[in-house]
Formats: sequence, C-alpha cells, structure tokens
Amino acid sequence: MSVIWLDSIDSTNSEALRRLPELSGGTVLAAREQTAGRGQRGNTWFSAPGENLTFSIVLKDLPLKAPEAVRLNYMTSVAVASFLESHGVEPAIKWPNDIYVNGKKICGMLIENVLGAQGEVKASVVGIGINLNQKLFPQLANATSLSLCTGKAYELEAELGKFLSVFDGLQIHSPELFASYSARLFRCGIPATYHDLLTDREYRGVIEGVEPDGRLHIKEEGGPDHYYRFKEVSYIL
Ligand code: BTN
Repeated sequence: MSVIWLDSIDSTNSEALRRLPELSGGTVLAAREQTAGRGQRGNTWFSAPGENLTFSIVLKDLPLKAPEAVRLNYMTSVAVASFLESHGVEPAIKWPNDIYVNGKKICGMLIENVLGAQGEVKASVVGIGINLNQKLFPQLANATSLSLCTGKAYELEAELGKFLSVFDGLQIHSPELFASYSARLFRCGIPATYHDLLTDREYRGVIEGVEPDGRLHIKEEGGPDHYYRFKEVSYIL
C-alpha cells in the first residue's frame, strides 16, 4: 500500500473520490488536518489537527458483488479492533462499524462504494478516523482516544503503518472474518434500550448477533425478534 500524506484537506474521503480515476488500488490518502471531515448520516467528523489518524484507503477491482459489500465493514472493523488490541486495549464493535473502548467511541468509518454496471463493487473508499492523541473532545460527549486509554503518546506515521499492515493481512472472503466481527460485538447479550426508527418506539431488548447479510438481530424483552438494516435502529447509550 502506498501512503500519500496531505497537510490539510477538506476530507480524505472527498479527495479520494475526486481523484479516484487517477489513484491506483491500495493508495492511502492520510491527512494531518481535515477541515470538513465527514461522518455517517451527513454528520461532521471532528478531529484535532495533527493528533489523530484520518485517512482513506482506495480499493479497486475487489472480488465483491454489491450485496457482499458489508464484508468491507467486517474487514475494516476487525482490522481496527486488532490494531487497538495490539496496543493493549479491549475494543468492541458497535454495529455496524463504530469502535468503542470503555463505552466511548474511539474510531468511526465511512465506507463509500462505487458500483459497476454488473452489480460489482468497482471501487471503494474506506475512510477511517482513529483517535490517537486527542485528550479533549469539546464537540463530543462520548469520545475517547488511544492515549486516554493507555496514557501514552503516538506517532501518526508509525501507527498508520502498523494499522495498514494489519488491514493488508486480512482477506475479504476469509471465512473467519464474520466470526471475528461477531465475537467483538458491542452489547451482545446485554439487556439495553433501543430506538426502533421504523416505528419511532423505544424498547428493552438484547442484541443476539449479526446476520451474515449484515442485519442486526435484537430480541425484544417479552416481544418479537427484530432484524435491522443500517439506519433502522439506534442505541440509547
Ligand atoms: C462516523 O463515525 O460517523 C464516521 C467517521 C469517519 C471519519 C473518517 S476520517 C477519514 C475519512 N474522511 C472523512 O471525511 N471521513 C472519514
């Protein structure tokens, strides 16, 4: 993988999408500062300049059909979790692809796919923000960083290299990937409150797991089993 470091850019995902025709698969755009970092659901991704990892991996010609695109979530989540575990922390994957440590968010991902005419994933921009050194999160109530967890300071270039070698070592079609993802699922088996966005109703339930097609399975207390796609349920934290 070849890394291009940018001092400042609006968003590494936006830049990767703009430059997609000219970038080869395996290129990584990393930014010391993002001026308009993008998160899920149109949110802004806040990251103090020079303190954290904010980067996008360009993948091309993946052996992946659109319905299998969820495997990119599995692979990226498992890679981030393994990277954090190598630093001695215990991460959990909050479905679909946030990474939490001690109940606080340490990493977010924004995976943007370009689909081809045959229903294949022609290219993918895997955007990842991992909080490394930031200690104060004025805009966010529930965020943490590796440094807050371990008390150490981290060098951005070295940590990106370590992460990429973990990511590079994973196979998108490996049979173990889904099991590795499921084994680290946040709140699995623990009663908690969820907000069903389809019916606008809150209820108590237990996450039973994730279906291989990516849907989250929650068993409602004294009620039915629910199977959610992305944006159909939210966690009450
Ligand atoms: C989320 O949790 O809402 C997703 C956050 C994704 C942030 C990363 S930082 C690098 C890449 N560039 C962006 O603009 N967003 C992603």
